[in-house]
Amino acid sequence: MRKRIVAGNWKMNTDVATGVKLASDLMQLLKVQPAPENVGVAIAPPFTHLSEVSKVIDPSKICLASQNCASEAKGAYTGEVSVEMLKSVDVMAVIIGHSERRAYYKEDYATLAKKVDLTIQGGLRPIFCCGEVLEERNAGIQNKIVEAQLKESLFHLSNEDFSKVIIAYEPVWAIGTGVVASPEQAQEIHKFIRSLVAARYGAQIADDLTILYGGSCKSSNAVEIFSKPDVDGGLIGGAALDAAEFHKIVQSF
Ligand code: 13P
Repeated sequence: MRKRIVAGNWKMNTDVATGVKLASDLMQLLKVQPAPENVGVAIAPPFTHLSEVSKVIDPSKICLASQNCASEAKGAYTGEVSVEMLKSVDVMAVIIGHSERRAYYKEDYATLAKKVDLTIQGGLRPIFCCGEVLEERNAGIQNKIVEAQLKESLFHLSNEDFSKVIIAYEPVWAIGTGVVASPEQAQEIHKFIRSLVAARYGAQIADDLTILYGGSCKSSNAVEIFSKPDVDGGLIGGAALDAAEFHKIVQSF
């Protein structure tokens, strides 16, 4: 059965103490009011916070994720953090290909494919981001853009490996802008993504795939967006920095 997920991407926000408090507050809220059945909760704090945050969360209630990983397994890559290092602090999922990494750090299709491979080989789950920029949406080529992102960095995977993937559709024009995609726009492209996966991997794998929406998602619009049949939850930025607000989004199914 297809899993629904709400994941918080903290980006480069909070210091360690504030991040640990945010994670513990969320844990408390989930103890009082657990996530609805079949809804998973994940948080992706900065690298520096992972070890401390892992000590205050119950992995059966909150899955610990990272925002990135190295594209190499180990060695002389100053400043990078490997999948094995992430595993050693109980990380279970890795956000890969966020549009901020593609835009600011020039991560290309081949680099992202390597990160996906290492993540899966390490037994972790990739949360693979895709999405178009405003000019591409205005030109009506969003499907073409997303198709290339998936084909070039994911579609080399075997059926078994692809089953570990979570996809997050995040239109760049909706990230941090307060402009949220309409539920219809989200549904349309999520359905398209599922159809691409069905053509490559078959109907069952496509039906089981979790596809998250990201971009200015908050408790005031989550219910409507999550009600769409191909939207299986959200990847939340700004609204994940407030435990009560994020917890409300978790309850939006
Ligand atoms: P916002 O929710 O702040 O728009 O960010 C979305 C996002 O980029 C999550 O990865």
